[in-house]
Amino acid sequence: MKEFPLDFCPNTEGIFAYLNYLVPATRKQILDILIEGLKRMEYRGYDSAGVAFDISEETNNKSAIKLVKKRGKVKELEAALENQNGLSYTKEYDIHCGIAHTRWATHGEPNEVNSHPQRSDENNEFVVVHNGIITNYKDIKAFLEKKGFVFESETDTEVIAKLAKHVFDSDNHEGSFREIIEIVVQQLEGAFALVIMSTHFPGECVATRRGSPLVIGMKSKAKLCTDHIPVFYSKADNRGYMAGLAPNRMFSESEYHTVGPEKEVEYFFASDASAIIGHTNQVIYLEDDDVAAVTKGCLTLHRIKRATLGEGGLNNDRKPNLQPSIRKVQTIQLELQQIMKGNYSTFMQKEIFEQPESVVNTMRGRVNFQENKVTLGGLKDYIAEIKRCRRLLFIACGTSFHSAVATRQLLEELTELPVMVELASDFLDRNTPVFRDDVCFFISQSGETADTLMALNYCKKRGALIVGITNTVGSTICRESHCGVHINAGPEIGVASTKAYTSQFISLVMFGLMMCDDRISMQERRKEIIQGLKKLPEQIKEVLAIDDEVKKLAEEMYKEKSLLVMGRGYNYATCLEGALKIKELTYMHSEGILAGELKHGPLALVDKAMPVLFIVTRDGVYSKCMNALQQVKARHGEPVIICNVDDTDTIAHANRHVTVPHTIDCLQGILTVIPMQLLSLHIATLKKCDVDCPRNLAKSVTVA
Ligand code: AGP
Repeated sequence: MKEFPLDFCPNTEGIFAYLNYLVPATRKQILDILIEGLKRMEYRGYDSAGVAFDISEETNNKSAIKLVKKRGKVKELEAALENQNGLSYTKEYDIHCGIAHTRWATHGEPNEVNSHPQRSDENNEFVVVHNGIITNYKDIKAFLEKKGFVFESETDTEVIAKLAKHVFDSDNHEGSFREIIEIVVQQLEGAFALVIMSTHFPGECVATRRGSPLVIGMKSKAKLCTDHIPVFYSKADNRGYMAGLAPNRMFSESEYHTVGPEKEVEYFFASDASAIIGHTNQVIYLEDDDVAAVTKGCLTLHRIKRATLGEGGLNNDRKPNLQPSIRKVQTIQLELQQIMKGNYSTFMQKEIFEQPESVVNTMRGRVNFQENKVTLGGLKDYIAEIKRCRRLLFIACGTSFHSAVATRQLLEELTELPVMVELASDFLDRNTPVFRDDVCFFISQSGETADTLMALNYCKKRGALIVGITNTVGSTICRESHCGVHINAGPEIGVASTKAYTSQFISLVMFGLMMCDDRISMQERRKEIIQGLKKLPEQIKEVLAIDDEVKKLAEEMYKEKSLLVMGRGYNYATCLEGALKIKELTYMHSEGILAGELKHGPLALVDKAMPVLFIVTRDGVYSKCMNALQQVKARHGEPVIICNVDDTDTIAHANRHVTVPHTIDCLQGILTVIPMQLLSLHIATLKKCDVDCPRNLAKSVTVA
C-alpha cells in the first residue's frame, strides 16, 4: 500500500482509558465507559477504533487481556463488543484497567490489524494506545526484529508494545511497570501520547506524553488528599536504562496518595477533556515527558530528567528553568458541548473559522517563504514525469471539483500544459479518451467518493499516472494513487466542505508552483504568488472579522427563493462554490453564473425582485465584470457585491456590499469564498436548517 510522505499530520486521534480501584464495576459498565469516552472524541475524526480489557475471569484468574478492534465508526466496535462469545458482561471487577482508541491513520491503512491497541505478542502481555508519530520507529522495529520479534501491523505504534516486552524480559521481570515504560520512552523520537497496560501488572497502567496532549481525570467519594501531585525525578543510567529512583523526593511513592491508601478511586485518561468531563471535573494536564503511573490505586507522576540549563532554558533572571516539582489538580469548568465544538455553534462554523490555521497546516513544511521554494514530498519522485506529460486532468465532484476550477487558469499559466477539469460522473458518462502520457489528479476530501474512485480506476486501467489529492490518510483514493498530496486540513466533520476547499485550492497552487520552479521567466510570478500565500492566514482572519456584516446580509436575504451568484475569471469558481454552499445548506435555489455568459441567457432572470450577488475584484477581468454589473443594474437588478477593500468605484454601484482584502489574482478566490461560506451558514441558521447534516446529503458519497 503506497503511503504519501507526511510532512505534517494533524494530531486528531482519540485516547481513552479507565481504571477503577475498589470501585466495583461490571464488565458491561466498564466497556460502556470506554465506548462513551471514544464517542465523546468522535469529532476529532478517525477511521477505526479498538479497546483492550481484562479477561482474567474467563482465564481462571490467570491475568489476561482481550483486544477488540474494528475499522469504521465506534458504533461498529460497540456492536462487535456485544457479540463476544463466552464473555460475561455481568462479572464485577473491584479493580480493573481498560484502554481504548480512535485512530486517524498515519502509518498503515485503516483496518483491524493497524487499529489500536497494539500489542507486544499473541498473549497481549503489553498493549498500548498511542497518538502521534514515532519518527524513529523503523530503527526500533529493525532492532526488535533482530531480537526475534515478528510484527503484524504497519503501524509505528506496535514498536512501543514490543519494546516494553523486550525491556521487561531483559530486566528479568524486575523493574516496576513505570520503570519499564520510562526506559521505553527514552528510546522513542517524535510526538506521542500513550497509555499502556499489561498482563504482568493487572489493575495498573502507565501514561506519558511528548508533543501530544493527555489529561487525567480523578473521581473519588473520598476528598482528594491534595490539590497537587508531586513529581518524582528518576535518573537515566549509563546503559540508557533506568538505574533506580532519584534521591530527591518530596514524598515517598508508597507514602504519597492521591486520595488516601485503600480508598476507592477512578482514573480517566484522555486526549482531551471532552471525554472526561462527563465523569469528573478534577483533572491534571500532563506535561511533555511526564510519566504517570497508577499502582494500587495511587497516581504518581515522574520525570526522567530534572530540567537542566539546556532542557528548560533560562527564566527571566537567567536562572535554569526547573519545571515545578508538582502538577496542579485543576477543575475544568467547560460544558462538554463547548469543548467538542469549541465556542462554535456547529462544526461547520468551527471549520470556517479554523481556516487561518488549516491553510498554515496545508503549507507547513512545504513552502519556504524565505527562499520562495515549494516542495510537495508526495510528488517529488514523479514531478519530472509529470512535466513531460501530454495533459493534466483534474477529476472530482462537488466542492472538490470547484477547487480544480479555481486553479485551472493558474495551472495552465504555470505548467503551459493543456488542463482539463472534469466532473467525475460526466467524465465517466462520456467514456472520455485517456492516454498513458496523461496525468490524472483525483481531488477528494474523504478519499472515498464513489464517482471519483470509479474515474480513478478508469484512468488507471488506461495507463495514466494517478495523483491523489486527499484529506484522509489511508483512504481508498489515497491507496489507489501512484502518488499524491495530503491537504492536511484536519478532519472536516461538517457535511458542507469549507476548510477542505481552501486547502485543496492551496495544494493545487503549490503543485503549479512546483511545476515551474526551474522556469526563469516565471520566477517573478512565482515569488508574488508565494508571498501572497504567506499573507493568506492573516487576510483570512480579516475576512472572518466581517462575520457580523455578513450575518446582517443574511437577515435581509434568508426569505428569498433564489440567489444568482455572478463573477468570472479567478472568481468564477467562487460563484460555483458559493452557489453550492447556499443550495446544500439553506435548500434555497442558487446558481453560479459566468458573468461573460449573462447576455447569452441568464440576464433574462434579472429584475428588481431577483437577488443577485456579484463578485468582482481588482484583476484582469475587472472591467469586463463592471460591464456585466452595469447590465444587471440596467435591468433594475440590485446586486449585493463582494469586492476589494477601498474599491470605491465598485462600491458606488452596490446596493449592499462586503469587502475582502486584495491579494494576487490567482489567490483572490480563497478570500472571496469565505463570505459565501459565512452567508450560507447564517441563512441556514436563520432558516433553522441542520447546518452540520443538511437533509438528503452525506459527508462522503460512497455510492455512485
Ligand atoms: C461539498 O460541500 C459537498 N459536501 C460535496 O459536494 C462534496 O464536495 C463532494 O461530495 C465531494 O466529496 P469529496 O471531496 O469527499 O470527494
